[in-house]
Amino acid sequence: MSTEKNEPSTPAAGKPAEPTTWTGPRKRWVPIVVLIACMIAAAGLTWLLTTIFAHKQESKHPFTQVVEVTDTTYDPAVWGQNFPLQYEGYAKTGELNEEELVAHEPTETDPRLFVTQSKLETYPRLVNMWQGYAFSVDYREPRGHGFMLEDQQLTRRMTEFNQPGACLNCHASLPEIVDELGDGDQAAGWAAMNKLPYAEAVQHAGGPIACIDCHDPQTMQLRISRPAFINGIKALKANEGVPNYDVNQDASNQEMRAYVCAQCHVEYYFAGDDKTLTFPWTHGLTVQDAIQYYDEIGWVDFVHTDTGAEVLKAQHPDFETWSQGIHADNGVTCADCHMPYEREGAAKISNHDVTSPMESDASINASCLTCHHSTTEEMRQRVDTIQNRWYEAQDISFGAFDDFITDLSTAVKDGTASEEQLDLARDYQRRASFIIDYTISENSKGFHAPAYSISILNQATDYSRKGQLALRGVDVGSARGPVSSATPTPDR
Ligand code: HEC
Ligand code: HEC
Ligand code: HEC
Ligand code: HEC
Ligand code: HEC
Repeated sequence: MSTEKNEPSTPAAGKPAEPTTWTGPRKRWVPIVVLIACMIAAAGLTWLLTTIFAHKQESKHPFTQVVEVTDTTYDPAVWGQNFPLQYEGYAKTGELNEEELVAHEPTETDPRLFVTQSKLETYPRLVNMWQGYAFSVDYREPRGHGFMLEDQQLTRRMTEFNQPGACLNCHASLPEIVDELGDGDQAAGWAAMNKLPYAEAVQHAGGPIACIDCHDPQTMQLRISRPAFINGIKALKANEGVPNYDVNQDASNQEMRAYVCAQCHVEYYFAGDDKTLTFPWTHGLTVQDAIQYYDEIGWVDFVHTDTGAEVLKAQHPDFETWSQGIHADNGVTCADCHMPYEREGAAKISNHDVTSPMESDASINASCLTCHHSTTEEMRQRVDTIQNRWYEAQDISFGAFDDFITDLSTAVKDGTASEEQLDLARDYQRRASFIIDYTISENSKGFHAPAYSISILNQATDYSRKGQLALRGVDVGSARGPVSSATPTPDR
């Protein structure tokens, strides 16, 4: 019966216990057996306790200190002796992954046999958008961290243009460079690196990002190594009413799991003749906050060859975009999806092969499915749906923009619009261009903040159409007026 089944089993009542009496020599072997049993049990218990203890130790310190690492241990292979599993994952970011590569005809300046897919081919309108700027000749998909230094040295944006040492901030292990250039004074070394010509600065680079860029060698805690982020987040917090924010002291561990990535995966510019790497965050992290910042300082990345507009170039605002999405709202960080935990014995290891979580069923399982009670297939579909919708929205907005700059180029050439109309249209171009660029150079194809990404594309479409109307003498108002929605984040 059902009640019986659920009843906890109790010893049968009423049965008297068997009397235990030692009777006669027949049972003299019993104490020996008991003794042996006790010895086995004791040995077993000792084994069990040591194993539990060892596992406990392992999960507290999932490594044994084989070598000492200090603030000048730049070589990740040395750290790898203490943390072989993390090192193994890290090393994978430098392995060729044929699926994401296309063949490349080697040239004298660029001997690579394989490169990643060209984004200029995926989004051909980018070439027109960037007329007069280095990006219009070469712009590709990213790949693993192990390639960051090589890919930077070999891009045509480097080999055919002069670039500053400031480029190294996000493409090399930084502590070694700034120690060397500053003779131990890291701030001086950083200032020196930024303004050196790239070819000179890169002589001091030991390799791509290493353990020391993200970890304190004594405690293995996450640590921010980049001055630009320290300054940027301080300005952002000050704007939120938190003065004198010191990220390495004040941030929680969970925040650091996003901040270490936000040292590089962000929109930036090089300020002044010193080429100081700077993040435009004093008004906040939205695309409109960045535009407001750049307007205030009168920043221009390049002048468009055909229209004469003073254009802003956006680059990889992965952190800023993520911050506008539902995962950030729920405290889900970059590391949760891109460096998910894996079990190794009793230890939890963060996967240091930083890559797309959608790479395989195993990676979807390790990241998404720790929170979503779903299947790998369904997660793939959800991401595909979001990315396809983003792609369509981007295509429509970019189509409008392309029409607009064609119109504006024509008007500049044939004199059909007044100087005032042209200037107003150029200001609309500046905004629309930045927003479209922003969401395309963001690397998740809309995933990090789906609704936000589409809402800003709507804004860009509106700017493009208003720019076209301005050329035709319609009163559309200033491009610098308030945006149609004060908080362009309907999903928050
Ligand atoms: C604030 C950090 C930062 C700075 C400064 C920076 N990069 Fe990058 N770069 C990144 C990140 C993050 C990626 C990977 C994401 C992407 O490709 O959008 C990347 C990707 C690249 C790539 C591979 C994809 C592509 O664009 O073709 C090249 C090449 C590159 N950067 C060159 C440069 C050059 C040249 C400079 C100096 C003008 C520079 N980077 C400065 C962060 C930075
Ligand atoms: C020192 C700057 C820097 C830091 C810090 C950094 N990245 Fe990157 N990341 C890059 C650059 C540069 C590339 C592109 C390398 C290339 O294309 O050669 C890249 C590429 C990537 C890729 C593409 C990998 C692939 O296989 O396609 C992902 C994903 C990524 N980073 C995520 C992260 C996450 C998550 C963090 C934080 C845990 C992080 N990055 C920290 C600079 C950085
Ligand atoms: C909720 C999970 C999640 C979080 C949190 C997250 N990402 Fe992503 N990220 C994704 C997905 C999904 C993609 C799309 C991958 C694809 O298309 O293969 C992606 C794409 C990327 C890419 C491009 C990868 C490639 O292979 O081209 C980069 C770079 C990246 N994210 C960086 C970051 C950074 C930096 C953060 C934190 C500021 C972050 N992500 C937070 C899930 C996440
Ligand atoms: C781009 C930044 C980054 C780099 C580079 C990096 N790590 Fe980590 N590491 C992380 C993050 C994020 C975590 C998770 C930390 C947390 O949640 O407290 C982590 C965690 C760890 C941990 C704690 C245990 C674990 O796996 O969660 C160890 C040990 C570790 N890393 C070793 C290394 C070693 C060794 C290297 C170099 C080979 C390295 N890391 C390079 C970001 C990085
Ligand atoms: C650490 C937990 C965690 C991880 C890991 C995680 N998510 Fe989420 N995800 C959430 C939470 C929490 C929400 C918000 C749920 C809500 O409020 O209804 C969410 C929401 C979503 C949404 C709805 C987005 C929107 O804007 O409405 C999608 C799609 C999604 N996640 C996909 C993914 C994918 C794909 C991955 C793996 C790459 C992933 N998630 C990894 C916790 C996580």
